Amino acid sequence: MTMIHFIRTNGEKVSIDAIPGSTVMEVAREHDLPMLAACGGSLACASCHVIVDEAWFEKLGELSEEEEDLLDTAHGLTHTSRLCCQIKVSDNIDGLVVNLTPME
Ligand code: FES
Repeated sequence: MTMIHFIRTNGEKVSIDAIPGSTVMEVAREHDLPMLAACGGSLACASCHVIVDEAWFEKLGELSEEEEDLLDTAHGLTHTSRLCCQIKVSDNIDGLVVNLTPME
């Protein structure tokens, strides 16, 4: 299992043991965290936008050009923003911290 820490917009932390192979977006949805993820992970919206903790951003690796383009349409974009349907759960991200963004 891989522990992922989600920080809600009110600061509350929700820690979830996730199964490797799914995406961070799927983990959030399965646990009823507020995330629209309108396109279901097909890289066609930007409503799975999260802000990754600084310490973790580099460890997640490069973004695809498609993800970067879509991120430009996200509200409240930061330099550690990601679309979490593109982050695969694996042992390498055990302890990941992501901040949820307001649902639009
Ligand atoms: S769920 Fe639509 S881009 Fe991630």
